Amino acid sequence: DELGGTRVAVIGAGYVGLTTAGCLASLGHRVVCADVDQEKVNALRRGEATIREPGICELVVDGLASGRLGFVLGARAAASEADIVILCLPTPMGATGAADLTTLESVVTGLRDVLLPGCVVVNKSTVPVGTACRVADLLDRPDVSVVSNPEFLREGSAVHDFLHPDRIVIGSAGHDLLGAERVAGLYGKLDTPVLLTDSASAEMIKYAANCYLATRLSFVNTVAELCEYLEANIDDVTRGMGYDARIGTSFLRPGPGWGGSCLPKDTVALLRCAESVGSDFPLLRAAIDTNARQHGLVVDKVRKAVGGDLAGARIALLGLTFKAGTDDLRDSPALAIAELLAAEGAELLGYDPTVNGPVAGATDRVRIMGTAYHAASGAVAVMLLTEWPEFRALDWARIAGRLGGRAVIDTRNHLDPLTLHRAGLSYQGVGRPA
Ligand code: UGA
Repeated sequence: DELGGTRVAVIGAGYVGLTTAGCLASLGHRVVCADVDQEKVNALRRGEATIREPGICELVVDGLASGRLGFVLGARAAASEADIVILCLPTPMGATGAADLTTLESVVTGLRDVLLPGCVVVNKSTVPVGTACRVADLLDRPDVSVVSNPEFLREGSAVHDFLHPDRIVIGSAGHDLLGAERVAGLYGKLDTPVLLTDSASAEMIKYAANCYLATRLSFVNTVAELCEYLEANIDDVTRGMGYDARIGTSFLRPGPGWGGSCLPKDTVALLRCAESVGSDFPLLRAAIDTNARQHGLVVDKVRKAVGGDLAGARIALLGLTFKAGTDDLRDSPALAIAELLAAEGAELLGYDPTVNGPVAGATDRVRIMGTAYHAASGAVAVMLLTEWPEFRALDWARIAGRLGGRAVIDTRNHLDPLTLHRAGLSYQGVGRPA
């Protein structure tokens, strides 16, 4: 018809699904995005973005206005008229640590009898190696191609990452390349390398990339710890490492440990995968253990800063999300550290620009305050846990005036030590000499 473009169904309007739907509509395709949550579908139909992500609201509003983007309740309604069906479903960590495919499998089974002949089913979620073949088996539709097309976007820059990817990876289950080529056609307007491979390799690329990134950070965090003992400066060390083109400069910032909805889940899942084939991945296990140890090292620093005993010590926590630029608290290192501090009897006052009230479970040990200044009131130490830009612009003299102690522990090397010293505070970063 007159709109042109490929008819795409995106199943799941979560983080990856909504970004995919909005971006594909902006690339000229006709996209119907389905979710099981009626409230979410209603909000999206009104043009309200249901995730916090720069650019997503404009994509939803423009997509609705152009007629290229629609939202429906239920996967079957969307998939029954699509040439390409993209699954963007949650694959949470199951009881054993392996990814839980219950939702994915039940959706796939439900689509079996509505898929158009010759359509392509694409999986975008992070799934165990072998899942695309399993989906093909469940579908049992020789006329339908199944491909794996993992997504590499980061929270906080999801739309940008989707439209400016480093690469696109498409793997076919079975031997037909036709399905993979049709999926590649969706991205024809993007200027980026496209890797066509088999589905097992595509699924492994996703895990291997995230696990490599996590391992790299555990490595850097431990080098930063050694820098503290040896009076070296991690900022210069990583800069010097990064000039080596084989290493590169990005993803080398030390911190309180890596978190979020992907790295922690995917590292455990790949380790379980290695065990499931009778092998092991000791390097990955060490990366995971090093991350837990990192939380403990941060707590050691705070305990020392308050004179050796955390019981009854009031501590201000600046930043709670797993990184800046997102409101996501899932597997946030800040909350893991809060848990450890609380277990030693510390009293925690927290401030985060995206957290307005108590968050069930996650933050019930932290009293959420309306400003950083309120959080600092009467505290013996301030900890910076998330690198929100606004923390650099705080009036640190005003904070100093409200504190009952002097210590500022910057777990992200985000603050300027000189500014803090001028405010009369005692600054401690990560891997920076005192
Ligand atoms: C991560 C990957 O970076 C994406 O490529 C991938 O698509 C995504 O997971 C996913 O699988 O969906 P994301 O979880 O949004 O993206 O977060 P990152 O920006 O990778 O940060 C992860 C953690 O590492 C955060 O806690 C962050 O603070 C920490 N980090 C990151 C550092 O401590 N130092 C750095 O230099 C970079």
